[in-house]
Amino acid sequence: MKELENIDTTDMKAMVASFPQMLRSGAPSDEILSKAERIRKEGIDGICLIGMGGSAIAGEIVKCLLADSAEEPILTIRDYVLPKTVDSRWVVVAVSYSGNTEETISGFKEAESRGSSTFVITTGGVLKDASDETRVHLMPAGFQPRAALPIIFAGVLPLVETLVNLKLTDLEKVSRNLELAATKWSSSNLKPGNLAMTLRNKIPVIIGWRHLIPVAYRAKCQFNENSKVFASSIQIPEMNHNEIEGTLSCKSHPISPVFLRSREEDERTRIGIESAAAIFEENGCHPKHLSLKFDSRIEETLGFIMYLDNVSVRLAEISGVDPVSVERIAQLKRKMGAREK
Ligand code: F6R
Repeated sequence: MKELENIDTTDMKAMVASFPQMLRSGAPSDEILSKAERIRKEGIDGICLIGMGGSAIAGEIVKCLLADSAEEPILTIRDYVLPKTVDSRWVVVAVSYSGNTEETISGFKEAESRGSSTFVITTGGVLKDASDETRVHLMPAGFQPRAALPIIFAGVLPLVETLVNLKLTDLEKVSRNLELAATKWSSSNLKPGNLAMTLRNKIPVIIGWRHLIPVAYRAKCQFNENSKVFASSIQIPEMNHNEIEGTLSCKSHPISPVFLRSREEDERTRIGIESAAAIFEENGCHPKHLSLKFDSRIEETLGFIMYLDNVSVRLAEISGVDPVSVERIAQLKRKMGAREK
């Protein structure tokens, strides 16, 4: 895709700034989508999305976005093995940006041996070679997998929407609205750098509800990998049954809670969040409430991701660390490789 060719893939700031363009990178071909449609018409029992790290998160987001409209169950697996329930009446979508991730390759092979219908979303590697090419959606290569989230999402969402018989989302429109939002943030108090400044030398704790649960998790991973800090993600309402007790340690631990506030919050959720926030406050920790104005669930979801991706890169800049390199992940892989020999 021409538009993506000008993005500097060695510059994380440039990559996160290109989030809306990447979302326009293209859906799976008509051939793949008609195959998916045929499989759906023959009858399926569920969809299992497999992938790791940056390649797994698109599936987590799609699962939450479609939770109240898809009739078939959507499972997400981040492991070598598939649950027993996944059989020949299931569709398994293997997502790996590199195509060389061992857990994903293992799950894909298991799906094939169980006779499940399979699709692959990748840029190449072992997965591409191991799969029937008419079922491979090839994505533009050259990005860090975590920065490629919008590209991966643009592949996963239409495929899953087709499999569960939902109308395809207009990602061009979503992308345009994200561009507009980013322009507004840059000239307001919502500048990502402002939030990044408040997170300096702190442990960001990102708190999400419903479709914002994977968004909070994504933000945690971006703070880990881009800003090189420990971070945590918490889900509402579950947090009100466990983490809330941990607020007693607020005074001695530098945690910085950020509640992601949704346009869809119902009254009981709002009360749950505000009551929890008051307990954080009483224990000496000052939570922030982040709300972004969007007109749809999907725009809110992707808007928060784009915003927090930018915050993680700004935090890396402020802390003087390189947001691109993942030295410790590479180091860990080397150590594991050495032990396997
Ligand atoms: C690196 C990143 C990682 C990878 C993960 C799986 O930017 O985000 O979490 O996504 O190691 O690799 P792929 O995506 O190639 O299957």
